[in-house]
Amino acid sequence: MAVFTDNTPISLIKGFSNGRHNRRCHWFPASDYNQLQDHQKIVGEALINLAGVQQGEKVLDLGCGTGHFTRVLSELVGPEGRVVAVDPDAERIKIAKESSKKKPNIKFLVENDQTFPGQDYDLVFCNHVIQRVMDKVALFKRLHEKLRSGGSFVLLTFDGTPEFMADILDAFSEFAGPDFHHKLMYEQQVWETASTYRELAEAAGFVVKSIDTKQSHEEWGSLKELISYFHGVSHGLFDISTVDEESLEQYRVENNLRSFHVPRKLLYIKVTKP
Ligand SMILES: C[S@@+](CC[C@H](N)C(=O)[O-])C[C@H]1O[C@@H](n2cnc3c(N)ncnc32)[C@H](O)[C@@H]1O
Repeated sequence: MAVFTDNTPISLIKGFSNGRHNRRCHWFPASDYNQLQDHQKIVGEALINLAGVQQGEKVLDLGCGTGHFTRVLSELVGPEGRVVAVDPDAERIKIAKESSKKKPNIKFLVENDQTFPGQDYDLVFCNHVIQRVMDKVALFKRLHEKLRSGGSFVLLTFDGTPEFMADILDAFSEFAGPDFHHKLMYEQQVWETASTYRELAEAAGFVVKSIDTKQSHEEWGSLKELISYFHGVSHGLFDISTVDEESLEQYRVENNLRSFHVPRKLLYIKVTKP
């Protein structure tokens, strides 16, 4: 659980200025994302356990972001194993490479679910990514082709559309634009339920080993951090340089916002290729 309070050190927010007359924020989507993804890391640990990674395996980290789990996977497969980590966001791959210089068994590439190289993977690991893949039929088909027989695909996402986001995202319309909610939730992402994922996997030839839902919760006490997080996850969909500390604080006070409780209905899935 990620718990952020009003006392969260301001230094957590890259580029945040405490200067009295210089309160414009100069943040970058990938670094915002890199610093404020604690919840995703914590719940992703259970996906690592579900994957059951073995020494010497060849793993694809699909949508690796800034590479936190790529490095975990690299340790688990050991020097005889290999991790190919792909993400279409070049800025995130740059950060991932810089943070992983001592991991010779990782190859980072700016690619996506339809362009990643390699075959005969033992495992495809996919944390908080599948909702961003528009054509999920094509995704399952390609993963089935690229895994070895007996190989596994594990994924973590939300079960259905996370309705709780509506309140929070509407609160951001003042800063991120009235269409931010729609763009982030329905243009950048396509949400499916557990039963649809089962159908997609089975139609592609996979055997479903497990589908589990889990209720999770995070709490954000600072509007500054939350807007920075949404700037990151939306890949910079709005201009955060126009957002200043005083307007955020004024908004928070006017709307009596003390903290944001964010429940998440998580979905953990493991399928294997017969
Ligand atoms: C929420 S992040 C998760 C990053 C990483 N898996 C982690 O757990 O830290 C989602 C990532 O999926 C990537 N992504 C979006 N569309 C993709 C696609 N079609 N194929 C692969 N990755 C994609 C995004 O660029 C983003 O970095």
